[in-house]
Amino acid sequence: MAYKIDERNKNLFAIVDDKIVPRSEASIPIWDAGFLHGKQIWSSPRLVNGKIFRLQDHLDKIRHGIQAMNCKIVPDDAVFRKAIRNVLVANKMQGATGVHIRIVYTPGTQVTASMNMKAVVNWDGTPAPPRIIVMPEWRGMGTIYDTVKGEKAIISQYRRPSPQFADQRIHSNNQIHSSLACDEAVQAGVAAALMLDADGFVAEAHASHMAIIKDGKFYTPHVRCCPPGVTRKVLLEVCQSNDIPAMEDDITVERLMDADEVMIMGTMSGPISITHVDGNVIGDGEIGPMTTRLKALYNDAMADEKNLFDIFAEEE
Ligand SMILES: Cc1ncc(COP(=O)(O)O)c(C=O)c1O
Repeated sequence: MAYKIDERNKNLFAIVDDKIVPRSEASIPIWDAGFLHGKQIWSSPRLVNGKIFRLQDHLDKIRHGIQAMNCKIVPDDAVFRKAIRNVLVANKMQGATGVHIRIVYTPGTQVTASMNMKAVVNWDGTPAPPRIIVMPEWRGMGTIYDTVKGEKAIISQYRRPSPQFADQRIHSNNQIHSSLACDEAVQAGVAAALMLDADGFVAEAHASHMAIIKDGKFYTPHVRCCPPGVTRKVLLEVCQSNDIPAMEDDITVERLMDADEVMIMGTMSGPISITHVDGNVIGDGEIGPMTTRLKALYNDAMADEKNLFDIFAEEE
């Protein structure tokens, strides 16, 4: 899997607790609830011509996680938008494209290292303020992927957890399974590790969703053992508005291998063709026509003003 260092990212600013700080100084207390116990929620939208693609969907994804965490103080969306705007301005990113914005939320700093949310307080016992971090970086869409020949994937030995253990719609930093699967992909020299759920159905790829195409139909796994995804949501909508039959389904490894096309999808890349899985050729081993069409439709959606939020136009 390719990885690119962008020198422009060396001297960026992040925002932490309302303070704009150079990235080398951006830090959180070691008593942070997200650091100590994995209570950290995140999502990463993208800047397109200075506007944020489907920002509200990303904020909704974050809110679902916040609501699951029993926080005493819950910031509304305007607080997130202000932090995002301020850090983008600090980085002179107005009008930019190719910026990936990681938004992170934690319940705040604790007075003792306990899992009890009652420990997330100030020294006078009042509720601690929640922590919002926004860290934008220059990262073009899909730049690390081969969009001419397509990419290869493996099936990971690690499984995605099921909602039996915790609601997987909570997009938290408890991503050790996916992170280890990423290591497997890197070791195998492929772009993605596809992860099964405990029942043996494909759940998603290590850091993105996936879909198969069979007989002109788009099938993507249910959001059961994976977090919800904005790219997946947009692609389902795009299929619907272009009369491409699309549905959520349980996808076995046999169906995966027998697919006409396989793709992964996320904000980082848009739809990316997977032409080989575990060395097996998918379809004719080339980027398929439906993946090409969906990529074009996804690009159209990214250019559509109704999907773009003008973060710089908003009043303080
Ligand atoms: C585990 C996982 N799956 C899928 C995705 C893709 O989600 P999105 O389309 O919202 O970028 C992400 C991205 O954050 C992710 O971390």
